Amino acid sequence: MTASGHRQVFTVSDPAALAKAAAERLLARIAANSGRVAICLTGGSSPKQLYQLLATDPWRAKIPWERVHWFIGDERFVGSDDPLNNMAMARRAFLDACAPAANVHPIPTDTVNPDEAARRYELILQSFYGADRLDPTRPLFDVVLMGVGPDGHTASLFPLYPAIAETERWVVGVPEAHVEPFVPRVTLTLPALGSCREMLFEVAGSEKRAILTRVLAGENLPANQARSMGETVWLVDQAALPENFRGR
Ligand code: 6PG
Repeated sequence: MTASGHRQVFTVSDPAALAKAAAERLLARIAANSGRVAICLTGGSSPKQLYQLLATDPWRAKIPWERVHWFIGDERFVGSDDPLNNMAMARRAFLDACAPAANVHPIPTDTVNPDEAARRYELILQSFYGADRLDPTRPLFDVVLMGVGPDGHTASLFPLYPAIAETERWVVGVPEAHVEPFVPRVTLTLPALGSCREMLFEVAGSEKRAILTRVLAGENLPANQARSMGETVWLVDQAALPENFRGR
């Protein structure tokens, strides 16, 4: 384990081990909360194996599905059934088979524009939370899952875009993406994402090594700015790990 500031970095052998380690952390957070649990999912390809794992036993049998609510940290502004839609991927991978429909909270994309979708999702989150101000002692989410893009973005918070500096809004529209797919996005902001007991990044594959090198060097990137009010954990597989971090 390598600690860097408040971030903990755990290394695992490969993507299968990464999905298992993430599932274990998720289950531990769910078990630690005997009430209503809120998990914020992420899109991209990194969490797919974890999602598929959650739909299989022993994981599936261990999740108290009735009291776990599933949100999404960012969405591509495409239809809810579009193959690019992040929540659609999570639905196909596990939610449709396992979670009560009322516990799945997608970002609505049937709105006139991403700003309107952001406003609506903010209201959904605020109503779930029971307040329109985040209380620094009461996290919105138990776990926020995250990934990192090649430019250091996380959720749809791209480097130097105004959304990264947002301090008031919980959700904002992003008119243009900085990387593929080049569709407008809707994203939770740093204060909303950070309002969690644990923020859990999953990073796997040699194509992530270059950006992980920059992240671990402490560069000012969205993925480094995203921090939990509780624990921030990066799960990294061997292929993604920069040379100088191997064996630590
Ligand atoms: C999205 C994501 C995004 C993703 C990273 C990593 O909508 O694309 O939420 O932030 O997590 O781009 O994506 P990969 O896992 O596909 O590398």
